[in-house]
Amino acid sequence: MTPFFHRRDGALAVEQVALARIAAEFGTPTYVYSRGALTAAYRAYAAACEGRRARIQYAMKANSNLAVLQVFAQLGAGFDIVSGGELKRVIAAGGDPRKVVFSGVGKSAAEMELALAHDVLCFNVESIPELDRLNAVAGRVGKRARVSLRINPDVDARTHPYISTGLKANKFGVAFEDVLPTYRAAAALPHLEVVGIDCHIGSQITEVSPYLEALDKVLDVVETLEREGIVLSHIDVGGGLGITYADETPPDTTGFARTLLDRVAERGHGHREVLFEPGRSLVGNAGVLLTTVEFLKPGAAKNFCIVDAAMNDLARPAMYEAYHRIEPVAAAKAGVQASIYDVVGPVCESGDWLGRDRELAVQPGDLLAVMSAGAYGFVMSSNYNTRGRAAEVMVDGEAIHLVRERERVEDLFRNERLLPGA
Ligand code: LLP
Repeated sequence: MTPFFHRRDGALAVEQVALARIAAEFGTPTYVYSRGALTAAYRAYAAACEGRRARIQYAMKANSNLAVLQVFAQLGAGFDIVSGGELKRVIAAGGDPRKVVFSGVGKSAAEMELALAHDVLCFNVESIPELDRLNAVAGRVGKRARVSLRINPDVDARTHPYISTGLKANKFGVAFEDVLPTYRAAAALPHLEVVGIDCHIGSQITEVSPYLEALDKVLDVVETLEREGIVLSHIDVGGGLGITYADETPPDTTGFARTLLDRVAERGHGHREVLFEPGRSLVGNAGVLLTTVEFLKPGAAKNFCIVDAAMNDLARPAMYEAYHRIEPVAAAKAGVQASIYDVVGPVCESGDWLGRDRELAVQPGDLLAVMSAGAYGFVMSSNYNTRGRAAEVMVDGEAIHLVRERERVEDLFRNERLLPGA
C-alpha cells in the first residue's frame, strides 16, 4: 500500500478519509482516487526531468476523468492522446493543447483537422498512408503539421502479449527496416515538418533493459538521419513503466527516468528534448474500486464472494487475467471465519471475476477495495448487462469530491429509439 492508501485503526482510508464514509455517501461500486498519490507519482518523473530537456506527456487513456487531467495539467504535464475525444477532454480540463502529442494508428481526417486547429505539439505517425493523409489535411487548412515517426524497434518488453507493442508481430509503429525510407518520404512532404522520433514498446514493463535496448536503436536512427540532413529535435521514449499489483518490483520512477535521460546524454544527444508518455505509473496505484459484498455462495469446488462490481466496471481480470489485490475495508472482526473465495460480479459470464482464490474473512454487506485500479479501470468500463458505470470520487486531504456521478439507467438508453408504429 502507498502512504495514500493506509489503515487507520484497522480500517482502510484514502488520505484523511475512511473508505467506508465514501461508500456511505456515494454508494458502490465507486472508483476512489487520491490527489496526493497522483501528485507524488507525477513528481517522481518531474524530479528526474529537472534541469534536463524533458517533458512528461500523461498517456490519458489510462484514466481520462477531467479532474485527474486537471491535477496533472496544474502540475505542468502535457498529454499523450489517441483520439479527438481525448483532445476535447484536455481542453475541458484546462490543459494546454499545444502540449499534446497525438498517438494512434488510425487517426481520421477530422481528428487531424481538430488537432491542427488546436496547434498540438506533434503527431506521432505510424505509416506512409497516415503521413499522406496528414499532409493533405494540413495543406487543406494551410498549416504545417509537426510529425514524429513511431518506430517499431523489435524488442521484447517481456510483458503480457496483449500489452506488448514493440515486437515485429504487432500492429504498431513503422517496421525497423522501413524507418529510413519512411523518414525520407515524410521529409519530402510539403505540409509536414519532421521534428521527432517515437517508440513505445509495451505496458506494465518491470525492467529497464528493454527500454535501453529500444533507446539505443532509436538513437542509431537519429544519428543516421542526421547524416542525411534530417535533424530531429525530440526523442519520445513512450510509456509503459510497470507498477506493483502483487509482488512485481518495477524500477523506481525517478531512477528509471534518469537512466534513460543519462543514456541520451552519454550518447551525445543531451541537446534534444526527451518525452516520456507514462500512463499506468502515474495513476495505477492512485485509485481503488470500492465494492460491496452481496452474497457468499459456498460451492463444492469453489466458494464465491459475489460483489456489486463486475467485469463491466473493471475489465482487466477478465481481459488479461490481471491480478488486483482485494482488501476488506473494515478492520478484522472477531468471529468471522476466513475462507478462500473467487471474488465475482453479477454479470452473466463465467469470465466475470475480479480475483481468484482469495482468502477473505467477510460477510454480506462488507466493503472490499480492489486495489491498484486507477489505471485502465473506469476508462475501460462498459454498460454490459445495462449496468450504469460507477461513480468516481477524488480525495484530497480531508476533502471528498465527486468527480463523476454514477450513471443512471435512464442515461443508458437515452440515445435509443423505438421503431415507429404501435
Ligand atoms: N504511449 C502509447 C503510445 C501507448 O500506446 C500507451 C499505452 C502508453 C503510452 C501508456 O502506457 P502505460 O504507461 O500506461 O503502460 N489496457 C491495458 C494497457 C494498454 C496500454 C495501451 N497503450 C491494461 O489494462 O493493462
